[in-house]
Amino acid sequence: MQRLGLFTGLLGLLLAMSVGQGAQDDALLQRARAASDAVLTQLLARLNREYQQGGAERGVQVCSQVAQSLTQQIGREQGVQIRRVSLKNRNPRNAPDAWERQVLQQWERDHNAGKPLQEVAEWRTERGQRVYRYMRPIMVAMPLCLECHGTQIKPEVRRLIRERYPSDKATGYQLGDLRGAFSVKIPQPKEAQR
Ligand code: HEC
Repeated sequence: MQRLGLFTGLLGLLLAMSVGQGAQDDALLQRARAASDAVLTQLLARLNREYQQGGAERGVQVCSQVAQSLTQQIGREQGVQIRRVSLKNRNPRNAPDAWERQVLQQWERDHNAGKPLQEVAEWRTERGQRVYRYMRPIMVAMPLCLECHGTQIKPEVRRLIRERYPSDKATGYQLGDLRGAFSVKIPQPKEAQR
């Protein structure tokens, strides 16, 4: 009986340790998710509003002016670095880095194989610093996306896109395709480094 008590005591301690470790990561995961949710909701709300008021033409004009700044502003509010990335990016700033490219390519393979896509989170060491990294897939989830990313884009919309993004790669998508990802970075605070 006594041995069992010692054993469960140890087990409890081990569990507490792993939960303690997990709690910090959990908080980071929540922050990364919250930032992604906020960017998704706010960009979509803005896009919808502009689309109602002036169709895809207006959507492109406004999106090209506010998508970057809105995303960065939300990142500052949430205390993270966040951006949107894609293997076929429209804005050159949204080109993936090596790690993001790897994740996107894996998702592409999974998606083609009919597997559900899942968010990814891990610690990485980049230029000597520990960084928490998170990615979540962005799908072509509604017909609206096709107005500017599909196969039959109106000529006027196509012209506006070409004008603002001469090296645009983000067309030819179909409903349900993987479009890209939210990508979040949270550098580990210096004092917490071991
Ligand atoms: C009115 C046109 C328009 C519509 C509709 C639209 N987008 Fe975009 N999309 C853009 C523009 C313009 C950019 C470039 C924004 C920038 O400069 O960062 C962009 C960029 C993106 C990016 C960032 C990667 C890249 O290619 O640069 C993703 C991801 C994305 N769109 C997904 C979607 C999804 C998903 C939908 C449907 C919910 C959608 N878009 C609907 C115009 C549109």
